[in-house]
Amino acid sequence: MTATVDAPPDQLTPVRFHQVGKAFGSGRKAVVALDGVDLEVGAGEFVCLLGASGCGKTTLLNLVAGLDRPTSGRIELNSSRPAVVFQEAALMPWLTAAGNVELPLRMAGVPKAQRRAKAAELLELVRLAGLGDKRPHELSGGMRQRVALARALASTTDSADAGKPSLLLMDEPFSALDAITRDVLQGELLRIWRATGTAILFVTHDVREAVRLGQRVVLLSSRPGRVVQEWDVDDAPDAVDEINTALRKVISSHAA
Ligand SMILES: Nc1ncnc2c1ncn2[C@@H]1O[C@H](COP(=O)(O)OP(=O)(O)O)[C@@H](O)[C@H]1O
Ligand SMILES: [Mg+2]
Repeated sequence: MTATVDAPPDQLTPVRFHQVGKAFGSGRKAVVALDGVDLEVGAGEFVCLLGASGCGKTTLLNLVAGLDRPTSGRIELNSSRPAVVFQEAALMPWLTAAGNVELPLRMAGVPKAQRRAKAAELLELVRLAGLGDKRPHELSGGMRQRVALARALASTTDSADAGKPSLLLMDEPFSALDAITRDVLQGELLRIWRATGTAILFVTHDVREAVRLGQRVVLLSSRPGRVVQEWDVDDAPDAVDEINTALRKVISSHAA
């Protein structure tokens, strides 16, 4: 199935996979995590990548983030350097919330006054205005994920890559949170996505989350992960049942 992308014609596609494969190790002991993956995320598009545990979702994100390299195929990246939000916020415990958000700007050489202002603006965007001087241990899990999101947005907006579409990678960012906080943050993420226009590739094993957040849901098979099916879910909230059935099918076909 081909991806439909509603990008303005002058916008490049942030990322496109061409038959991407990834194996860890070699010979008989090799673990093939991904095989022949074709996937693209259009400018400003919100894509949810859905799959069972161990099917290669994190591996795929790591390839986009440049943390690892494919063993076959090609990844075309037209985005500014993608930032990743992980399941755990992974904040620097010795830095304040504002300090954490400023970190990627500092590394990009953004002058102090400018990065202060940018961090304040991003903390406001994630509704943490006034909490910039708190350290991670003083914040709740949900608040720490808000800081992680602000930090990721800071690193996708650095001026060196101006003009390129931005891309945010999220690896099951809400799965360690309680159900109520998760629900709130899903809503917040949608608001922030609409406000920033960044493209998002969001990994989850939760069908409801994928359908609520994504414009498009891409189902990966069990390992080796490849794209099994895609759904345009913008106007199809009742796709949950159908996608659940498909997910169960790919899981059971690999059950030992
Ligand atoms: N660095 C690595 N070395 C060897 N095997 C790995 C490595 N990273 C991931 N794998 C294997 O690749 C498969 C996919 O892992 P992963 O991408 O983490 O899955 P998911 O995120 O979908 O749960 C798993 O079988 C995992 O054990
Ligand atoms: Mg994972």
